[in-house]
Amino acid sequence: MAAKGRTISEREGVKLMNPHIQEMEEDVLYHLALGSGSHDLRQMFGDVRFVCMGGTPHRMQSFAEYMVKELGYILPTGTDLVDISARSHRLLTFQLIRIGTCGGIGLPPGSVVVTEEAFDGQLRPVLDTIILGKVVSRPCKLDQNLADKLTSMSDPEDEFKTVKGKTISTDDFYEGQGRLDGAICEYTEKDKMAYLNHVSDNGVVNMEMEATVFAAMTHMAGIRAAVVCVTLLDRLKGDQVLTPKEELIAWQERPQKIVARFILSELSMEERQAATPTMSKLARISSNLFAKSYSCFEDA
Ligand code: URA
Repeated sequence: MAAKGRTISEREGVKLMNPHIQEMEEDVLYHLALGSGSHDLRQMFGDVRFVCMGGTPHRMQSFAEYMVKELGYILPTGTDLVDISARSHRLLTFQLIRIGTCGGIGLPPGSVVVTEEAFDGQLRPVLDTIILGKVVSRPCKLDQNLADKLTSMSDPEDEFKTVKGKTISTDDFYEGQGRLDGAICEYTEKDKMAYLNHVSDNGVVNMEMEATVFAAMTHMAGIRAAVVCVTLLDRLKGDQVLTPKEELIAWQERPQKIVARFILSELSMEERQAATPTMSKLARISSNLFAKSYSCFEDA
């Protein structure tokens, strides 16, 4: 592709869906505190094979530390892992995995769900978004092969179930997910149960708030993506998350385990060794951003 300013092409592994970026002298990734002028992004991230995203800094820090241990990396003394995790949709790479939490439907709390298909609240595999004042509907498609591989990482010895199933993504935690305990509620318990049973009969096993936008964007960008979440409760049995904080924290490691097994199964020994210098290189840019938590109920 001809380029006035920067050269980005599909050779870099990402379908360029925005022609304006091609023309820009410099691409500043504001939310990540990175830029093509200030950082050598190709050198820093050119060999990245997996990107795992999650909703809280605490969860992602523990995942990063867990992966370092699983991969057998030794970080040089005085160095630390780097947080590049601010909310952004600008970093789109090869295989993208969302690790999160959700409400289960008909599953024991603490189960892991790998999303097969992401639906809106009307069971449509579509993300409606408003762009320039108009509703634009985008298909939500996740990589089935990746979902199958992740599901197959379940071990009979695990103290939790891992299932593949359909996921509803909503715009809010309360009315959008049929809860009775929000600030506003205009339906009855009977209405709520009729809806939850209806979606369950259609193969929906969990509800959260990110899968549709994640699936729509990654599908447009041609990136293989998956969503792996742990259920915090069974919505057929209640609305409130009553499990003690310590148990919830332990449960949040379950999708991490599944994803870690998958990543390890995909990496050859050579790749693991080749990645080590990159880790050390990145580690030199020490950061304490992990410590600054956008605290929420999940981030104990
Ligand atoms: N996250 C959600 O979106 N819903 C739940 O019920 C639990 C976690």
